Amino acid sequence: MSEATWAAVDEYVLSKLIGEDPALAAAMDDRRAADMPEIEVSPIEGMHLHLLARMSGAKRILEVGTLAGYSTIWLARAVPDDGRVVTLELDPKHAAVARKNVDRADVGDKVEILEGQALASLEQLGAAGGEPFDFVFIDADKENNPPYFQWAMRLGRPGTVIVVDNVARRGKLADASSDDPSVNGVRQMFDLIENEPRVDATAIQTVGARGYDGFLIAIMR
Ligand code: SAH
Ligand code: DHB
Ligand code: MG
Repeated sequence: MSEATWAAVDEYVLSKLIGEDPALAAAMDDRRAADMPEIEVSPIEGMHLHLLARMSGAKRILEVGTLAGYSTIWLARAVPDDGRVVTLELDPKHAAVARKNVDRADVGDKVEILEGQALASLEQLGAAGGEPFDFVFIDADKENNPPYFQWAMRLGRPGTVIVVDNVARRGKLADASSDDPSVNGVRQMFDLIENEPRVDATAIQTVGARGYDGFLIAIMR
């Protein structure tokens, strides 16, 4: 089984179930043009996130890690007109490209981009004491996955769904002797969830156009 096969199946699924979307294609083009890394979710994963958000009936979504707003658009399309996506981004250039992309996708009214260190923005959201988030997507610096997950629980409520991207990392997740800070961030998040009675969780390994990785999915009790 090769990566070419995974990509071919992704292509097939893409053509059958997802199709072309001008606003999403433009968002990827602008990310590329701005020399930003090619690390957004794939279209198939974007639809997966979108479906999970709709299945959970989410109105308020929190995203950690905006990049060019590609996953943000998928999530914003999952909430009703009076819904909201709050997305956190450290890099001002990324935030600016994302702003343009979500506006062009006609979901700008639903999307708030908070620029700066995600941990600082999370503190602010906590202090502001707004409505809880129904759905949280964690996809930023993997080293900080443990505090991001804790914040997701703090800003959520029973029933809140938490999704974490890139947990399998070509199998490095199972390597206890890894010295990769990203891998250790993910593993420490697993340690935390292991001892966390307030969530039920699992992790699914994936293959596809983005290689071999996986995502964690959790729901608050
Ligand atoms: N969710 C996006 C991809 C996010 S890539 C998508 O699928 O379309 C990860 C993003 O997290 C990058 O844009 C990076 O700048 C941002 N990031 C990294 N460290 C961060 C931090 N400490 N606080 C906020 N954002 C951060
Ligand atoms: C990386 C980060 C991501 O969020 C992703 O989906 C893929 C790769 C990375 O930092 O390499
Ligand atoms: Mg990711």
